Amino acid sequence: MKVSVFGLGYVGSVSAASFAADGHTVVGVDVNPDKVASLNDGRSPIVEKGLDELIRDTTADGRLRATTSTTDAVNSTDLSLICVGTPSRKNGSLDLSYLERVCEQIGEALKDKAAYHVVVVRSTVLPGTTHGIVIPALERTSGKTYGSDFGVAVNPEFLREGTAIADFRNPPMTLVGHNYASDAETTQALYAKVEGEMVTTSIRTAEMIKYASNTWHALKVCFANEVGNLCKRLEIDSHEVMDIFCLDEKLNLSSYYMKPGFAFGGSCLPKDVRAMQYRAKEVDLDMPVIQSILGSNQLQIQHAIDMVADTGKKRVGLLGFSFKAGTDDLRESPIVILAEALLGKGYQLCIYDKNVSIARLVGANKDYINKQIPHLSSLLTESIDELIEKSDVLVVGNGSPEFADALRKTRPDQMVIDLFRVKGIDPEQVPAHYTGICW
Ligand SMILES: NC(=O)c1ccc[n+]([C@@H]2O[C@H](COP(=O)([O-])OP(=O)(O)OC[C@H]3O[C@@H](n4cnc5c(N)ncnc54)[C@H](O)[C@@H]3O)[C@@H](O)[C@H]2O)c1
Repeated sequence: MKVSVFGLGYVGSVSAASFAADGHTVVGVDVNPDKVASLNDGRSPIVEKGLDELIRDTTADGRLRATTSTTDAVNSTDLSLICVGTPSRKNGSLDLSYLERVCEQIGEALKDKAAYHVVVVRSTVLPGTTHGIVIPALERTSGKTYGSDFGVAVNPEFLREGTAIADFRNPPMTLVGHNYASDAETTQALYAKVEGEMVTTSIRTAEMIKYASNTWHALKVCFANEVGNLCKRLEIDSHEVMDIFCLDEKLNLSSYYMKPGFAFGGSCLPKDVRAMQYRAKEVDLDMPVIQSILGSNQLQIQHAIDMVADTGKKRVGLLGFSFKAGTDDLRESPIVILAEALLGKGYQLCIYDKNVSIARLVGANKDYINKQIPHLSSLLTESIDELIEKSDVLVVGNGSPEFADALRKTRPDQMVIDLFRVKGIDPEQVPAHYTGICW
C-alpha cells in the first residue's frame, strides 16, 4: 500500500519504518525539517532500539522517504496516518491544536485529489474527537464529504517506548474504529504482516478503549507500588508477593471482575479492603489508590439510589437480594444497603430472591435474615409475578438466570434499572423502559 505518516515522533517514526519494512511504500511528514532531513539521511529522528537500522534499510530500499509537503504526501499515497502529538494543557485537557492543524492541511491537499483517501487517526484522542474535530476539519478544508469522498478510521497505538518495534510487530491487538466497512478494510490491510488479534468497532468505542487501557496500566503501577510499600513496612518481599499474585490468571489477571455494573459486596471484599487499609494506617502508610476503593464502591450504590429516585415512582421491586446470583449470603450485600436506603426514604419495596427465600426457612443464614434484617425479610416474596404486579420500578440486582424471563413479562408503564446487565435478553424484548446502571 501507499501510506503517508504525519508526525515523525515516537509513534510516527516507528510506524513509518515498520510499515516500510513490511513492504508498503511510506512517506513520512513532519513540520520539523530536521526530522525530515534525518529520516531522508537514513537516521532515526528519535532514540528507539532497532529504529536506526530499520530506517537505514528502508530508506536505502526506496520504500521510505520523508517530506515537509502535505500535498506531496497526500497525492502520492492512498492512506494517511495521523501521529501528531496530543499533549496535556496545564488544566489536564488535551491540546488538539496539532491534530486540528494537520487535518486542515490534509483537507487542503484533498481538495484537488480525485481518488478516495482514508485518514487514520493514530494519535490518542478522547471519545468524540474524531467526529467533533477531525471529520469537520477535513470536510471544511477539502470541501468534500466524509463517507463518499474520503474515509476516516481510528487506530490507537499500543506501543511502549523502548520496546516500540517489538510492540509494533506483536501488539496486544490491532484496533480499528470505523463507520464504513471499506475504511476498516483499507486500514486492516496495512497490518497484514503484523501478529495479534484484529478487532474492529465504532470510532467512539476505539477512542475510549485507548483511555481505558492507559488508565488501567497507570492504575496497575500505583496498585503494585502501594502493595509494595505496605509489604516493605511489614518486612515482606513485595516482588515475591506480586510474582505469585500474577500467577493467578483466573481472578487476578483476567477479565473476571472487569464488567461495569453494581458495587461489590459479600463477606470478603469489603472486610478485607478495610482491614488492609487499617493495617496501612497502623504503620503510618498512605495508600491513596487502595484507600479510595470503598468510597468508589459506595458512590456506585448512591448512583443506583439516585436512579431510582429520578424515576419519581415509589413502588420498587428488587430482583435479587444477595450480592451475587447463586448464594444466600447477605452480609454487606450492596442490594441490602440499597434496599435500606430506599426504605428509609419511604419507598414501598417488594423483594425477590429464590436463594434468600429458601435460606429464610432452612439455611445457615436463617438467623441473620430473621434477626439482622427482619424489616427487609418481611418484604420478600416468593413470586416474581407478584413482584412485577406490585412494582412501578424493577431493579435487577444480580445475574440470576430467571430474571431474563421476568423482564419479558414487564409492562410498558414500568421502568427497569438493570444493575447487572442481565444475560440472554435483548433490550428490545423488554416492554418496560429499560436502562442499565452504567451502559
Ligand atoms: N509515545 C508513545 O509511546 C505513544 C504510544 C501510544 C500512543 N501515543 C500517542 O500518539 C501520539 C503521538 O505521540 P508521540 O509521542 O509520537 O508524539 P511526538 O511529540 O513525539 O511527535 C509528534 C510529531 O508530530 C509533528 N507534527 C506536529 N504537527 C504536525 C503537522 N501539522 N504535520 C506533520 N507533523 C506534525 C511534530 O513535529 C512531532 O515530530 C499522541 O497522541 C500520543 O498520545 C504515544
